[in-house]
Amino acid sequence: MNIHIIGGGNLGVAIALGISKYTIGNQVVLTRRNAAAIAYLEEEGIKVSSDNTQDIEQADIIILTVKPYQVESVLQEIAPKIQQKTIASAVSGVSVETLSAAVGISHAIVRIMPNIAIQFGESATCIAFEGKDKEAAQKVISIFQQLGTAPVIEEKLMDAATVLGACGTAYALRYIRASMQAGIEIGFDSQTALAIAAQTAKGAARMLLEEKIHPEQLIDRVTTPQGCTIVGLNEMEHQGFSSSLIKGIKTSLQKIKE
Ligand SMILES: NC(=O)c1ccc[n+]([C@@H]2O[C@H](COP(=O)([O-])OP(=O)(O)OC[C@H]3O[C@@H](n4cnc5c(N)ncnc54)[C@H](OP(=O)(O)O)[C@@H]3O)[C@@H](O)[C@H]2O)c1
Repeated sequence: MNIHIIGGGNLGVAIALGISKYTIGNQVVLTRRNAAAIAYLEEEGIKVSSDNTQDIEQADIIILTVKPYQVESVLQEIAPKIQQKTIASAVSGVSVETLSAAVGISHAIVRIMPNIAIQFGESATCIAFEGKDKEAAQKVISIFQQLGTAPVIEEKLMDAATVLGACGTAYALRYIRASMQAGIEIGFDSQTALAIAAQTAKGAARMLLEEKIHPEQLIDRVTTPQGCTIVGLNEMEHQGFSSSLIKGIKTSLQKIKE
C-alpha cells in the first residue's frame, strides 16, 4: 500500500519508521513543512516532502499526525486533491464527526491512537471508526496489527485510550527512571541500573502478555512470605504507589477533556 503520513514530528516519524522496518510491501511518504529536518529518513526508504499533496492521489491510506490545532487547515489543503480515501487520524481529541465535516463525507475516517513504541513494532494502537467505514478500517487495522496490537474500541473511549496507551509510555518510562535512581542508590552505576530496570520491566510486561493472567498472580510467584519483595511492595503501597498512578491517569484524562 501507499501510505501518506502528514506531520513528520515525534509520532509521524515513529510510524513511518515502524512501517518501513516492520511491514512488507508498503511505501511511505512523510511530510512536514520543515522537510529538511526529516531528510535523513530517505535512507530508510521513506519519501520525504514539504508538500502535503505530493503523490497523495496514489495514497491508499492517509495518516494524520499533526497537532489538533493544525488538522483543519491540513484537511482543507488536501481535500480538493483526494477522492474516496481512507484517512486515519492520530490527532487527539478530534472526533470522526469533526474530521468528516472538514474533509467531506465521501472519505472513510478511522481514528487511531498509537504510541511512539510503534517505531519498534511495539505500540498498543487503539482504533475506532463508524460502521459504514468498516471495510476501509480493516486496511488500517491490518497495518497497525503488524506494529504491535490494534484493539478496536468505541470512539467515546478514544480520550481514555490516549491517556492509557499514548501518555502511558511516559508513565512507564518514569517508573523505569525511578527504579534506575533507586538502583544507583543501592550500588549500581547509572547505565547498569538503567539496563536492569528496563529489561526487568520489559520481561514483566512480556510475561503478562504471553500468559494472559492477572498481575497479582505473577506477583505471587515473586513474593516469598516474610521476604524482601513483599515488604518493599507494601512500603510502596503505604507511600501511595498505585494510588498516585491512578490519580495521575485520571488527571491526564480530565486535562484532555478540557
Ligand atoms: N507523541 C506521541 O506520543 C503521540 C501519541 C499519540 C497521538 N499523538 C498525537 O499525534 C499528533 C502529533 O503529535 P507529535 O507529538 O508527533 O507532535 P509534533 O512532534 O509537534 O509533530 C507535529 C508535526 O506536524 C508538522 N506539521 C505542522 N503543520 C503541518 C502542516 N501544515 N503540514 C505538514 N506538517 C505539519 C510539524 O512540523 P513542521 O512545523 O515542520 O511542519 C511537526 O513535525 C498530536 O495530535 C498528538 O495528540 C501523539
